[in-house]
Amino acid sequence: MSGDTATLHLDGIPPHMLSEVEKHLKPFRLSLEKLQEVSARLRKDMLRGLGKHAHHRAAVKMLPTFVRATPDGTEKGDFLALDLGGTNFRVLHVRVLEEEQRVLKMDSQICAIPQEIMLGTGEKLFDHIAACLAEFLDSQKLRGQTLPLGFTFSFPCEQKEIDKSILIRWTKGFNCSGVEGEDVVRLLKEAIHRRGDYHIGSVAMVNDTVGTMMSCGYRDQSCEIGMIIGTGTNACYMEEMKNVKRVEGEDGRMCINTEWGGFGDDGSLKDVLTEFDEEVDRTSINPGVHTFEKMISGMYLGEIVRLVLLKLTQEKLLFKGCPSEALLSPGSFETKFISEIEEPDTGLENAKKILTKLALDWDLVDARVARLVCDTVSSRSARLCAAALATIANRIRTNRGLDHLKTTVGVDGTVYRKHPNFSDELQAAVRLLAPKCDVTFLISEDGSGKGAAMVTAVAQRLALQSRLLEDSDGEDEEEEEEEKVIVLRTGQAGCRRLCVSGRNKDLSKSVEGKRDEGAGSGREPTNTPAQPTWNTPGAALTREQVSGDRKAGEPGTDEV
Ligand code: GLC
Repeated sequence: MSGDTATLHLDGIPPHMLSEVEKHLKPFRLSLEKLQEVSARLRKDMLRGLGKHAHHRAAVKMLPTFVRATPDGTEKGDFLALDLGGTNFRVLHVRVLEEEQRVLKMDSQICAIPQEIMLGTGEKLFDHIAACLAEFLDSQKLRGQTLPLGFTFSFPCEQKEIDKSILIRWTKGFNCSGVEGEDVVRLLKEAIHRRGDYHIGSVAMVNDTVGTMMSCGYRDQSCEIGMIIGTGTNACYMEEMKNVKRVEGEDGRMCINTEWGGFGDDGSLKDVLTEFDEEVDRTSINPGVHTFEKMISGMYLGEIVRLVLLKLTQEKLLFKGCPSEALLSPGSFETKFISEIEEPDTGLENAKKILTKLALDWDLVDARVARLVCDTVSSRSARLCAAALATIANRIRTNRGLDHLKTTVGVDGTVYRKHPNFSDELQAAVRLLAPKCDVTFLISEDGSGKGAAMVTAVAQRLALQSRLLEDSDGEDEEEEEEEKVIVLRTGQAGCRRLCVSGRNKDLSKSVEGKRDEGAGSGREPTNTPAQPTWNTPGAALTREQVSGDRKAGEPGTDEV
């Protein structure tokens, strides 16, 4: 891969010019060996993030999501979904049809989030969200109903329960005060309460990567990784419970939100960063945060290209040494320009139009150099992403002691979807970096909307089953003959199966999940032995069973 220039447009640039330009572009070209090194570093960071004590200081957070199950086909009903994570906010009405096993998007509405709200108070943000939801409920004539709600909130959150999610920090241009360290569900409910003119049902919090994996998991049961390459970048995957040291229990699997965007925040990627990345970070609203994301995702790629073009202009290699006002203005080179300029047939013509729009005095060689800069920056992004994805695929393979892994990644995000050769380049690099893994890519059909509704539907089904279990247990003295709760030991420590017979025959299907030591009730749903795939019908979304968490810096072993 080193020196591989297959996707670079070098044609038509005079050799002396090319060699001068290349001096500035060289730091973006990562060899296969370098990518392998990056992958090895991420692997270590992922272990740290999974550790019981080391996670406090881990750059890659590896957040447990408490999602252990995909739909089992019995979910049904109407749901609301909220999707907040980019510059827009979406409200959706989703219907899950049990008979047809289909998830329908009934309707949706997009509300813009103005810059002053993105950077204002948390109260204003959630009031805005509650107002958009009210408007949508009216337009759908749903105001009188109390529907369960899936909330895709695509920021790093420490999930305590499926409906309790503490924002660790803002990313991707958001910086609302009074939200970091707070429970986002509470803030949403308070905003709705302040209005007092409608109600919502139970809430399930979902990261967009998880929604993406869930929506693809509905179509392909071997989908056990979710990846986003859009405004931000991140991935989740199914990890063995025995490796998730922060959550009690050894059996089965749990979806982990890696928050790989934070990779490098502890300085581990210093040798990979270019002067342009450092500048992007310095001028961002969150310096030092989400280093990896800033090299990869749509929020930053355009700005990196602008800084490179500016540098080449200052070096008199472009535009006769004259930058325009626009080129000097941060954010003026949009990430979508990169895709347009790299279009195979129309790219060069698009480049000319864009350079004209930026009021630059260009010639044909300038347009070709601009295209080469775009190729270089997007190609690095694809390869870094590939290194990270390969790390996850390799981990799943070794976790399971397999010689060869066949797996599917659910993917979403504008960079992946819209860029002409990003996905090809990423896939080619994954093949080199994870040669023993056969990775299929499945584009998600609205993971943040339908996927969130599915997570909510599964959570609701499990809650209903648990409630019925509790009810039946409460009456068991009087109705002993009629109802029996049978608790079976499965032979694995701490692992039991609860079956219900009698009146609640609809629950004769086992309810499987992690035992909640906190609640301490023998009636809590419990886990079954590890299943061949993570998609264990009926496996529960349960509460956190955090065991004696120590503070950062305190000793403890974190071997995974
Ligand atoms: C940012 C967020 C993460 C999200 C990703 C993609 O990295 O921190 O939670 O999944 O963007 O939207």
